[in-house]
Amino acid sequence: MSAAESLAAFRAFSAIWLPRIEGELDRLLPPVTELPAKLHEAMRYAMFPGGKRLRPLLALLGCQASGGDPSQVLTAAAGLECLHTYSLVHDDLPCMDDDDLRRGRPTCHKVYGEALALLVGDALLTLAFAAAATGGAAAVQALAIAAGSRGMVGGQFGDLEAEGDRADHTPARVEWIHDRKTGALITAALLVGAHAGAQNHLALPEPLRALLSTFGDRLGRAFQIADDCLDLTGTAQELGKNPNADAVHDKLTWPAIFGLDRSLLMAKNLADEAVSLAPLVVETAAIWRGSRTPDLDAAVPLLQDAARAAVVRRN
Ligand code: IPE
Ligand code: IPE
Ligand code: MG
Ligand code: MG
Ligand code: MG
Repeated sequence: MSAAESLAAFRAFSAIWLPRIEGELDRLLPPVTELPAKLHEAMRYAMFPGGKRLRPLLALLGCQASGGDPSQVLTAAAGLECLHTYSLVHDDLPCMDDDDLRRGRPTCHKVYGEALALLVGDALLTLAFAAAATGGAAAVQALAIAAGSRGMVGGQFGDLEAEGDRADHTPARVEWIHDRKTGALITAALLVGAHAGAQNHLALPEPLRALLSTFGDRLGRAFQIADDCLDLTGTAQELGKNPNADAVHDKLTWPAIFGLDRSLLMAKNLADEAVSLAPLVVETAAIWRGSRTPDLDAAVPLLQDAARAAVVRRN
């Protein structure tokens, strides 16, 4: 079986849940008729049409893999996409990566101007926490830590600081950046889903939290390595964003250090590590829940496909 064929479980899961995620996002975002109309229009411009919706899908999967019911955590899952989309809007600003193409369309600031794009990000960030709050305090806390200076925002600063700083383009530094700017939110997606799906929002047992985190860390790092590689090999048509953008800013990327072929192999190895952790995650959840249901069993191939999908992708 080829790697692409083996993604069938995650594809089927996505086919079921993507329409529900879109519906939940539509419900969460204020309508364009509500004042301030221009701000709400710009928020919706950034959000629809979306990209892969990987983080909300991982939140639903984190819920299922820890024995919860994904249909109960849709709002919290949608919050992950609000936070991610805010990070993209700000990432594209002229003072950051200065990109003019995102999700196949002009970036938010190109259409609405920089000030409004800044506020779109602010509004999506705060909306993300209102949504995450439906999953309880632990979900909010997991998201807050992952999104802040010790997570995504810290990684984004590290990314900017490393631009052009060739003397210190080391493997340790690129790993530090990737784990924060991208890995933190991917891990948080799994944890938010798991926390939100825990009955009465009872605390997740530490071994389960730690396993989901390790799974997410491997997947997240693999995902950003793949993003760096796609920047070199993809087309604007495929990516919906301009390729070769990293070289323009002399970004510290994985292939800048290891070359393209080694980077692809390292991403695959990280995904394989995540694949091998999946049965352990589900086993640990079954012990905690006191039973092993068909939905819990089905989470093993789903987690494994999600990890593979992070590296076997064209956008
Ligand atoms: C792009 O994320 C930014 C990174 C963290 C690599 P995605 O590749 O998930 O973008 P969308 O949401 O599908 O557009
Ligand atoms: C972005 O990394 C990470 C975040 C938005 C937090 P990149 O700058 O590589 O993402 P793209 O390539 O612009 O999507
Ligand atoms: Mg960036
Ligand atoms: Mg960027
Ligand atoms: Mg990139």
